[in-house]
Amino acid sequence: MPPDDSGTWHKVLPGSALAPGKLSKAMVAGRKIFVARLDDGTLVAAPVACPHEGADLSDGMLYMDAIDCPRHHYLYDMRTGENRYPREVFPADLAAQLAPLALCPIKEEEGWIWVGSPKS
Ligand code: FES
Repeated sequence: MPPDDSGTWHKVLPGSALAPGKLSKAMVAGRKIFVARLDDGTLVAAPVACPHEGADLSDGMLYMDAIDCPRHHYLYDMRTGENRYPREVFPADLAAQLAPLALCPIKEEEGWIWVGSPKS
């Protein structure tokens, strides 16, 4: 995934500081984000504000490649940003209105984790 429109990557933390299944908070371009390493080692990042009502997702639980919001337990797929729950139990018209989580570009290079600026 490419960085933001300006082409800027931000050095966030050493890659060795983030074990599989863990997440960490950071600031990128003045925005609070969280960075996570999924169980298979894939890195993901997103703004901390839940698309539902803005709770801090970095206080949530990471499992099954998804982040579970601590407030109402909406579950966002960290590979796609899509809402998994309650989307799967809502009627189709309501499910279509659930906002996804905007993922940030991320890469690991030279021992560091780099994140592109959040777009939303
Ligand atoms: S604020 Fe995150 S699910 Fe409601």
